[in-house]
Amino acid sequence: MASHRRSPVKPLIIALALVLALPAPASAGPRPPRDLRELAHQQGIKIGSAVNIAALRDEADYRKMLNHQFTHVTAENAMKWESVEPERGRYTWADADALVHNAHRNRQRVRGHTLVWHNQLPAWLTEGVADGSITPRELKGILRDHITTQVRRYKGKIRAWDVVNEVVEEDGSLRQSIWLTHLGPGYIADAFRWAHRADPHAKLYINDYNIEWNAPKIETTFSLVKDLKAQGVPIHGVGFQGHLGIQYDYPADWANVMRRFAGLGMEIAITELDVRMVLPVTPEKLATQAGYYRRALTDCLSVKACKEFTVWGFTDRHSWVPGWFDGEGAACLLDENLAPKPAYRALLGVRAR
Ligand code: XIL
Repeated sequence: MASHRRSPVKPLIIALALVLALPAPASAGPRPPRDLRELAHQQGIKIGSAVNIAALRDEADYRKMLNHQFTHVTAENAMKWESVEPERGRYTWADADALVHNAHRNRQRVRGHTLVWHNQLPAWLTEGVADGSITPRELKGILRDHITTQVRRYKGKIRAWDVVNEVVEEDGSLRQSIWLTHLGPGYIADAFRWAHRADPHAKLYINDYNIEWNAPKIETTFSLVKDLKAQGVPIHGVGFQGHLGIQYDYPADWANVMRRFAGLGMEIAITELDVRMVLPVTPEKLATQAGYYRRALTDCLSVKACKEFTVWGFTDRHSWVPGWFDGEGAACLLDENLAPKPAYRALLGVRAR
């Protein structure tokens, strides 16, 4: 309190002298970011994570970390068809609604994942198609209704939709899904048109894995996007899932691939990044992993059209990797206890924009 009575002149002179004595702020960019949210703001990009809805509900530390660190979220499973319509005509939106609501409260944008996929379809649909009780004509109507219903429900609340997911095979052919088999290749353009009609402001994406490096897959996806654009189909973005592993080389050409798609007028996003390793974890592997995360963010930031950098889960406590890749794991930025791994610190060190 004593300071209130002191003359303000002397402290002012001291402060001025101190400022003048400091080195010129010529190279001083913004101070290092304290967390991913700050990094996102400094670099002008969205930084996102897939969300495990059970953990969001039940684990306070998970929830706090997600809401604090990220500016974008994707439902890991809660918006997939089997989750939202497990029985024909019975919709279960509670989980997806909770995710969208939580995102809104925490100033996070949302990626809708996913409208048309060959996996995690409800049994009533796959079985009906298999036994012929759902005819191709009916199937088309079912797909149109699914897309329209879901996109409309979240109109204005979803920044970007993964409209079609994984529609190209490794050899560059179109995937032999029930969609291609029963509706023909036109289902892709239809899906984008229906989604656009339901929410004209949402960015509509094609999303896939291994298009970071696999040439046949890249070429087919490239021609597909080019043709869709040429036909006036409302497609706006290309999502690179980015499921990487340190036992494979980092996809060194990734930024160039992003630039090629950007050249078609596409927005770019890394939508599902994780970097797995063969267990056990060692300090060397964690260092290599950190390098992969750092390069992925650097690649995205080097492409102006790359607007979103999303990881497929932020903690090893909840990661799809151990369940899907035998003997592999530890793919996320934070460990099981939510302690930051070298990869997390590596991201905070990236300066590009
Ligand atoms: C995965 C989820 O992470 C798992 O929980 C689920 O059992 C299977 O699907 N590509 C995608 C994601 O587009 O939807 C997948 O998510 C991972 C691969």
